[in-house]
Amino acid sequence: MVEKRWRKKLIGNRTLSPETLMMGYGYDPFLSERSLKPPVFHTSTFVFRKAQDGKEFFELAYGLRKKRPNEEPGLIYSRINNPDLEMLEDRLAIWDEAEANLVFASGMAAISTTLWAYVRPGTAVVHSDPVYGGTEFLLTKILPQFGVTTIAFPAEGGTKAMEAAAEQARAAAPVAVIYVETPANPTNGLVDIRRAREIAEGLATSDGKRPLVIVDNTLLGPLFQTPIAYGADLVVTSLTKYVGGHSDLIAGGCSGAATALDPVRGMRTILGTMCDPQTGWLLMRSLETLKLRMTAADAGARKVAEFLARHPRVASVWRLDFLPDGHPDCEVFERQCKSAGSTFSFEVKGGEAEAFAVLDRLEVFKLAVSLGGTESLASHPASMTHSDIPPEEQMRLGITPALIRLSVGIENPDDLIADLDQALRE
Ligand SMILES: Cc1ncc(COP(=O)(O)O)c(C=O)c1O
Repeated sequence: MVEKRWRKKLIGNRTLSPETLMMGYGYDPFLSERSLKPPVFHTSTFVFRKAQDGKEFFELAYGLRKKRPNEEPGLIYSRINNPDLEMLEDRLAIWDEAEANLVFASGMAAISTTLWAYVRPGTAVVHSDPVYGGTEFLLTKILPQFGVTTIAFPAEGGTKAMEAAAEQARAAAPVAVIYVETPANPTNGLVDIRRAREIAEGLATSDGKRPLVIVDNTLLGPLFQTPIAYGADLVVTSLTKYVGGHSDLIAGGCSGAATALDPVRGMRTILGTMCDPQTGWLLMRSLETLKLRMTAADAGARKVAEFLARHPRVASVWRLDFLPDGHPDCEVFERQCKSAGSTFSFEVKGGEAEAFAVLDRLEVFKLAVSLGGTESLASHPASMTHSDIPPEEQMRLGITPALIRLSVGIENPDDLIADLDQALRE
């Protein structure tokens, strides 16, 4: 068992910062040959000292009895638990300001497993729109096949649209989940998380049950937005993006109160959607530089956005700190987000041909989907990540043929500006 001193969050009366805790929180070197860094526990299964231990570990893992005071779950089998994943989950919970976290094989594994844990045939899901293409497919094409009604409201539409969608859903079926992606990929449209929670509370039934508020925090999380502090029950994140941060792994996470995570944990064990130990280890390594990387990328993105906003061949820049005065998202941005992050979109003057010409001329930016890595990427949402959304729906959501999405990395921003400058030339 890891001794308490390896889980210390205070020095005197100072609470240690997340970036400090990332260097070792939850790891006891004396359990691993005094190795400074945790080893990769590359094992499928764990040896029980006694049969009684195996029995007790399973009882707890399968929810057959309550946890005893200070009892830690015993290691059983890497689909259920693994030391690398447990350390990683403890550290991710710190960033998300949550009681606990679970890690998954991908962001979509986190999102789908969490939804499978809470939706049932005959229930409804109210969700913001747009959401990441894979989530959109799950919500609009797969869940309805299992008798779940899904009702969308536009992010960026203020709270009225969310209220109307909730009312519409209430009339159709008991609402199991309010699912919010904020900022939305690729438009950066915002949803007021606090209002989503109030609406969920307003939908409570006489037995006290209410819809869960689940927030996809991939675009700003975990550094620049902490949805739990604003009333989210569960926060899902594609760890493939900023947390992994080097475009070399696929993983996902879900944070929240331990009781809210219990059904998700059970579903993960049965669906087998958990992360593998090697990926877990890489994620812990990435967490050590998370703040440095996200802060540098954010500063670089601001500089790049300022350049684009002044460029004569650019029609619009959709970065959250460039919103026009009076835009309904300004107030939500000020209150809910700590910064605008480094993923944003801009429209060139013209349409698809003009956008493709710019993309094809880029040399430092790589033409690839995904975001949140150390290197800068550029993509075309309408024909790539969001291509299965019908064209008229794309236009309604602002995913126009002229829209280019950038994920700004940690290169010198002046090099990125030089690249965009040459690509934007006639
Ligand atoms: C906002 C958002 N959520 C979820 C996902 C899915 O994550 P993954 O690719 O790790 O499954 C993505 C992927 O691009 C995303 O952008």
